[in-house]
Amino acid sequence: MDPARRALCVALDGSDRRWIEEMAAMLAPCSGWLKVGLEAFTAHGPELVTAINDVGGSVFLDLKLHDIPNTVRRAAANCAAMGVAMFNVHASGGSAMLQAAVEGAGEGARGERPKVLAVTVLTSLDGDTLAELAIDVPPAELVVHWARLAHDCGLDGVVASAREAAAIRRVCGPGFLIVTPGIRPAWASADDQRRIVQPGRAIAGGSDILVIGRPITRAADPAAAAGRVLEEIQAGLGATG
Ligand code: C5P
Repeated sequence: MDPARRALCVALDGSDRRWIEEMAAMLAPCSGWLKVGLEAFTAHGPELVTAINDVGGSVFLDLKLHDIPNTVRRAAANCAAMGVAMFNVHASGGSAMLQAAVEGAGEGARGERPKVLAVTVLTSLDGDTLAELAIDVPPAELVVHWARLAHDCGLDGVVASAREAAAIRRVCGPGFLIVTPGIRPAWASADDQRRIVQPGRAIAGGSDILVIGRPITRAADPAAAAGRVLEEIQAGLGATG
């Protein structure tokens, strides 16, 4: 697959199954990944994953699993059996749960094991919220600590903001996927995202896969918007050498 396409993940956020399937059919040819989150999955379940696979899309199932290791292992096996190409768990579940997620993914896979990512500190949690949870570590430090834990447990990567990418890369080395939301091309509205980063900059800064929703899915011509983003990713890849 072309490297720019492999670096693009379009978030199909919504509850309307017809809309999601239309977007999937339109965007599968230009997007390496299509993200199905809690909203779409709680509405339509595994059938939606099958429908997206049927139009050639690779699904990133963003359910952020977090439970006792045995439950996560079984849920991870089900994710793999469903045919998702990538899914995620919370790093804060700890090493036994993280390892169980990777093992479960291997057990359920029909072919290649899906990639397993860790969510570190949600961007909605700031220092005050962590203090509320009796976590007395600055968010930036916690992100790197949890990324290292995920790496050491055999996960394939993390979901992290573009601002955290360099520190994570230093600790986890090359080959560890950094998947980044909060991306906005200069020509798109910020919507409710704060501290946005442009696609080319995020790629040049060390992110491997960019998660982009509304700038593409809510554009008048989603395929054309994806094409513009791919050009910016291409430029970023050029900048990384
Ligand atoms: O439409 P937009 O580009 O803002 O969509 C971004 C996607 O990435 C959404 O599915 C959102 O839930 C997800 N996300 C995020 N920020 C995080 C983690 C996930 O925007 N920190």
